[in-house]
Amino acid sequence: MKEERERKGEEAVYLTTPIYYVNDKPHIGHAYTTIAADVLARFHRSLGRHVFFLTGVDEHGQKVEKAARARGISPQDHCDEMAPRFAELWKRLCISNDAFIRTTDPRHKRIVQEALRKLHERNLIVQRDFEGWYCTPCERYWTEKDAPDSTCPDCRRPLELLKEKNYFFLMSRYAGRIRKAVESGEMEIIPASRKNEVLGFLEQGLGDLCISRPKKRLSWGVPLPFDEDYVTYVWFDALLNYVSGPQFLGESLARSAGIESWWPAYAHLIGKDILTTHCVYWPAMLSALDIPLPRRVVAHGWWNFSGEKMSKSRGNVVDPLRLFEEYGGEDERCAVDAFRYFVVGEVTFGLDGTFSLEAFERRWTANLSNDIGNLYSRFQSLTGKILGGAVNSVPVPEDAAVMERYREAMESFRFHDACSEAVAFARTLNQYIQERAPWSHREEAPSVLARVAAGLRILTVLLHPMMPRSMALAAERIGLRDLSLKTVLEPFPAVVTKGAPIFPRPHRRAPDGPAEKKSVPAEKTEREWATLDDVKKLDLKIAVVKQAERVKGADRLLKLNVDLGREERTIVAGIAESYAPEELVGRRIVLAANLKPARIRGIESQGMLLAAPLPTGRERKLSLITTDGEPEPGAEVR
Ligand code: MSP
Repeated sequence: MKEERERKGEEAVYLTTPIYYVNDKPHIGHAYTTIAADVLARFHRSLGRHVFFLTGVDEHGQKVEKAARARGISPQDHCDEMAPRFAELWKRLCISNDAFIRTTDPRHKRIVQEALRKLHERNLIVQRDFEGWYCTPCERYWTEKDAPDSTCPDCRRPLELLKEKNYFFLMSRYAGRIRKAVESGEMEIIPASRKNEVLGFLEQGLGDLCISRPKKRLSWGVPLPFDEDYVTYVWFDALLNYVSGPQFLGESLARSAGIESWWPAYAHLIGKDILTTHCVYWPAMLSALDIPLPRRVVAHGWWNFSGEKMSKSRGNVVDPLRLFEEYGGEDERCAVDAFRYFVVGEVTFGLDGTFSLEAFERRWTANLSNDIGNLYSRFQSLTGKILGGAVNSVPVPEDAAVMERYREAMESFRFHDACSEAVAFARTLNQYIQERAPWSHREEAPSVLARVAAGLRILTVLLHPMMPRSMALAAERIGLRDLSLKTVLEPFPAVVTKGAPIFPRPHRRAPDGPAEKKSVPAEKTEREWATLDDVKKLDLKIAVVKQAERVKGADRLLKLNVDLGREERTIVAGIAESYAPEELVGRRIVLAANLKPARIRGIESQGMLLAAPLPTGRERKLSLITTDGEPEPGAEVR
């Protein structure tokens, strides 16, 4: 199977996320890695590559045992209840993982035990007396050098001096091998700052790794196959999911070929806090087991909440499900996709980021509602009105460059750059429509809209990995069936379908209870107010209609001559379907008098009258804003 793929020049792309501890509810930190992996998986699939995307849960260890005990239930029951919460969140988030691994799966445990037996037989796991400073909550030993004050460098809680016999994996033997692999790029570490961190860690000298826990202290783990008084250290068990998963969960994809089809992994995506386990322990384990190293480990940064570290005790953990309820209502498609887009588009993958509702709403409004959503709506309405709803797209050669930059960004894990490329492209298309004004230069409209259609195909395909459901909807609206990146530069027959905007602006429904209402950030409400200066910028004046006539060839337009007191002006107004010209003469209207003049149908329109839409089913579509009483022409509206 593998050879067959290689022959075809196709690549197998095996992608992983960390497996998440089930001691906690899933939050934005977990969602982040999983969304990034999903974006990547969808991108590679759209290039026609074979992808195996694995995620799952880490169910053993002290933290899980403690969480279960605190709830008065067995660890297995606790896991059986918690694991589906992750799976459920991934479903709501539209995560396209091919498999979901649980480390309590007997097939995984068997593979862990086989690995332990193999290393024990080769004398790479040995028993030793051990005394060390142990942090129970973090479940790890510290050296005196790392913790001179006997407090845990991670959680700052007091350490205990423990003395016990334990089993050690002779990890120190692999220091040279790992260093070489990292330096040569055999196992890439991205970003470079993390690579240096790993090399620095190796520089300090590598010890052996304690891979057992006495059952009397911790019973919730995979039993050592050669000593029943011990269970396996949770990380030794957890890391092996990356090679056990494809063996028993990849069957449907890899058929009988098992791990051979997928390994070495294309990328392990992780958070920066679990760098050492993935870039030192894991390659040492693999080397000892004669398994090639993963091709790369990509570490992302940490999400803070409004400037603070996120933590349960601070109560500032972002729960994505809650966010979807608050912003989504009945149809959460838009909120889910905005969240996916926000987390990958907001920060450079690798750096820390700050989550705030304000930033979330800002990006949603600016990029999704304005730049992208409006573009589809404009295309839809212009093509509908001017061309009867269909146009054959005509691609332009320059667009290949956008595609290439996007592709390069995705292949280098610069998701935020990929998003920026797509948004910048949407802006270019918007600007192009604005400049070519197909509504007033109708003879050019077919070629302008054909070019926009080709652009929209590209935009839809580029954004599909980030926002799968919304872009599938966008594709439907323009009659695009093929979302593959391989064919994105080809023409297609665009056929538009009407519908509600793809990205309405964010609207946060106040969650139940008064406490939450208070938590709406002040900036949010303030941001929506205009200042007095903003209002004063508009020069609204009373004008009296002197003459009115239809504009030839345009069903909706009237040309009006209006009296503004000291001057007369000509304006073109889109109210012909609601008012006959003769009805208007002598009426007072409100005119936006400082609107920049624009040529409409060859007539210079020097202002805009105000009107409001009427409910459907009425005789008129629009209602003219007029006056109560008879203010003088030219009077200022305040
Ligand atoms: N079970 C281990 C991983 C084993 S992988 C073989 C574990 N689990 S975890 O649930 O604690 O964390 C999993 C991932 O979530 C880590 O990559 C971590 O970086 C990420 N995040 C947890 N909180 C986070 C933020 N606040 N921000 C970004 N990611 C963070 O570690």
